[in-house]
Amino acid sequence: MSPFKAYLIEEVEGKIQGAFVAMNESQLDAGEVTIKVAYSSVNYKDALAATGAGRIIRRYPCVGGIDLSGIVEKSTDSRFKPGDPVIATSFDIGVAHHGGYAEYARVPADWVVPLPVGLSLFEAMALGTAGFTAALAIVRMEENGLAPGKGPVIVTGATGGVGGLAVDMLARLGYQVTALTGKEAEFDYLKRLGAAEVMFRSALDLSRIRPLDKTLWAGAVDNLGGDVLAWIASTMKQGGTIASIGLAASPTLNTTVMPFILRGACLLGIDSGYIGEPYRSRIWQRLGDDLRPAHLLEMAHRISFDEVPDVFDGFLKGKARGRVVVELAGA
Ligand SMILES: NC(=O)c1ccc[n+]([C@@H]2O[C@H](COP(=O)([O-])OP(=O)(O)OC[C@H]3O[C@@H](n4cnc5c(N)ncnc54)[C@H](OP(=O)(O)O)[C@@H]3O)[C@@H](O)[C@H]2O)c1
Repeated sequence: MSPFKAYLIEEVEGKIQGAFVAMNESQLDAGEVTIKVAYSSVNYKDALAATGAGRIIRRYPCVGGIDLSGIVEKSTDSRFKPGDPVIATSFDIGVAHHGGYAEYARVPADWVVPLPVGLSLFEAMALGTAGFTAALAIVRMEENGLAPGKGPVIVTGATGGVGGLAVDMLARLGYQVTALTGKEAEFDYLKRLGAAEVMFRSALDLSRIRPLDKTLWAGAVDNLGGDVLAWIASTMKQGGTIASIGLAASPTLNTTVMPFILRGACLLGIDSGYIGEPYRSRIWQRLGDDLRPAHLLEMAHRISFDEVPDVFDGFLKGKARGRVVVELAGA
């Protein structure tokens, strides 16, 4: 394998910085499966990692990119053979193991899933960790009793990657979805994705959150944390379920136990990072089938590898809309 291009994130004198470098095969991390990367993606976590805005990376230097799809180049694990189209997301990828912002990656076979029927390598990255997480949240909420007939489901951070995909998937499954957003200009976009109602964050009074307020939601997919999550908890219907995914607004949560002990509301923690088999392959299969978003391609914005460093700031400022797919070798 000749030297290849990678976006390497380093810590230099206490500052985090990324740069394009040439790497060779011997510099790749240990693993059974070597993949020629076709596409990667940009998630909020990638922006935190690459800029140092969040202390996400646990080993420097590290090639960024928590997601990748591509073609198996070599494998010493019998589950994969050269030429297989595959996906690898989460685990230590891009945080403690060289990630998807490189023309080649080598990862443990347990982190790799076959590309499911119904998805291309591009579509797999239009979903990426964001799509996998939205799907995991829906599956976990349904296991906890959520069903379309039980009432509306609110999705926060709705124009973001996880949010937009969750709105689309839930609407496709027959849920009545309320999309909560800070971007008033994206009303039409969210309606197109399937939101029955669009609410603006500016319309919420978060200065006085009551322990128990008027019941509104049977389910909630929360990407923000902080006061929005506290307000959601106070407005859950009897037996409602909240999937706590993100902290885009705040990692803190100031609430009371009232919604949990008087309304039986459940707060489910969603961690897509380290959930293994059989969940992982099963969810990816569903993403190619009944959970496949109807507007996946509309949500995906393709950029070249060289453009990766330019998009992080938009994520950190909450300006991201939909999904950013990074083209490496393509397919
Ligand atoms: N638990 C897990 O396994 C897991 C997996 C993936 C992601 N996550 C987390 O989930 C969250 C969403 O990830 P993502 O990749 O979808 O991010 P994203 O594409 O950047 O979307 C986040 C959205 O949240 C809203 N937002 C951003 N900053 C905000 C702020 N300061 N205050 C209020 N709203 C803000 C914006 O949507 P609106 O303008 O529409 O409100 C933004 O588009 C992140 O916190 C991420 O770390 C967790």
